[in-house]
Amino acid sequence: MSGAKNAVLPMMAASVMASRPCLIQNAPHLVDVEVMAAILTSIGVHVRWTGVTGSDLYIDPSGLRSHVVDEALMRKVRSSIFLMGPLLAKLGKVEVSHPGGCDIGPRPIDLHLKGLRAMGARFEESHGRILGVAESWKGVDIHLDIPSVGATENIMMGACLAEGVTIIRNAAKEPEIVDLQGFLNSMGASVRGAGTDVIRVEGLKSLKGAVYSVMPDRIEAGTFMAMAAITGGEIWIRNAIAEHVQAVIAKLRETGADVIEKPDGLFVRGPRRPLPTDVKTLPYPGFPTDMQPQMMALLTLADGTSVITETVFDSRFKQAEELGRMGARIRVDGRTAIIKGVPALSGAQVEATDLRSGASLVLAALAAEGVTVVTGIQNLDRGYEKFEDKIRALGGNIARVD
Ligand code: UD1
Repeated sequence: MSGAKNAVLPMMAASVMASRPCLIQNAPHLVDVEVMAAILTSIGVHVRWTGVTGSDLYIDPSGLRSHVVDEALMRKVRSSIFLMGPLLAKLGKVEVSHPGGCDIGPRPIDLHLKGLRAMGARFEESHGRILGVAESWKGVDIHLDIPSVGATENIMMGACLAEGVTIIRNAAKEPEIVDLQGFLNSMGASVRGAGTDVIRVEGLKSLKGAVYSVMPDRIEAGTFMAMAAITGGEIWIRNAIAEHVQAVIAKLRETGADVIEKPDGLFVRGPRRPLPTDVKTLPYPGFPTDMQPQMMALLTLADGTSVITETVFDSRFKQAEELGRMGARIRVDGRTAIIKGVPALSGAQVEATDLRSGASLVLAALAAEGVTVVTGIQNLDRGYEKFEDKIRALGGNIARVD
């Protein structure tokens, strides 16, 4: 199992606040991580891969000299907004663009700005650039309108160097936030409550360097679990943390898959043919929106009709049309998709328009009859480390062409 993309990215941003180098172990080699490293390098932070397995990130922020995040780099990775809290906290200013990332509908950053504003930042926007300046930087008591993962993390990071105490209410509870708390505390910060909906941060004057190992990627684990389910195969996922994927386990069991939870991993055996089930995406510990497209791929082959309701993002059914090219019968109506299971899918040429929809197409392709060509795989490289190598090792017939 690789380290979690969504955990390592905010940690990389947080490391600019340290006064000494940080070592982030078990970091995945992903395009998003490389882009984040390029952003850090562009503002004077020294980043290099190290360690016996080459999966440790050494980050030395002592050369930090700029608060300006390059527009072209920013468009490549949404997580660049994680630099807002840390740079405001460390330098008192930040300049960013509206962020890029996956094309899964509008993703505003109003909650990030609201939180950082309450801590003392003033923002001006012109020509798509956002300039933030903080003459004072103080702890706040803030209630988030919705439990946004990114806003929780941005405020939590910025609060580590604020004057006084910050309380974030209605905070997101995702495991990556608990991991970020672990990283920040190993930098000497005082963060409590991550994983519950109230987080308390006591601000300090400075943070030291940290050595920290990133948690296993629960969405990668979920994707491989769904892969076993859709192919009727068996998989042992070493180091997967069962507690992090309970919602996925529950749904896979409803489709007829066997899931055995062990302290050091998970075993999944796929059903002969999946049973239909209904899925509603929700913030953690609900069913993760990042697993919704993969679940949809599985349900295209179910013996009956399933309904998926997407409540986290507005427009996250891009994979439905592509799955349709492979013979799936899916009707999308706003935030609901109705999937009439078919006995088999057939190979086709399909396009991965974003990271998780790309994963769902690969899953469908592995189960389909005939050859499928998936284009747009740069989207998969954003979030899956050695994806095709891992699938080949499991017996899947997959190759990267061009
Ligand atoms: C993070 C994950 C992403 C996952 C998502 C939901 C990272 C790097 N990415 O994204 O993989 O799909 O959580 O689990 O960790 N919203 C606002 N205003 C804001 C912020 C968010 O309206 O200021 C809305 C979003 O449009 C969305 C919802 O809140 O509808 C949830 O978004 P959020 O939890 O912030 O997701 P991200 O942090 O962007």
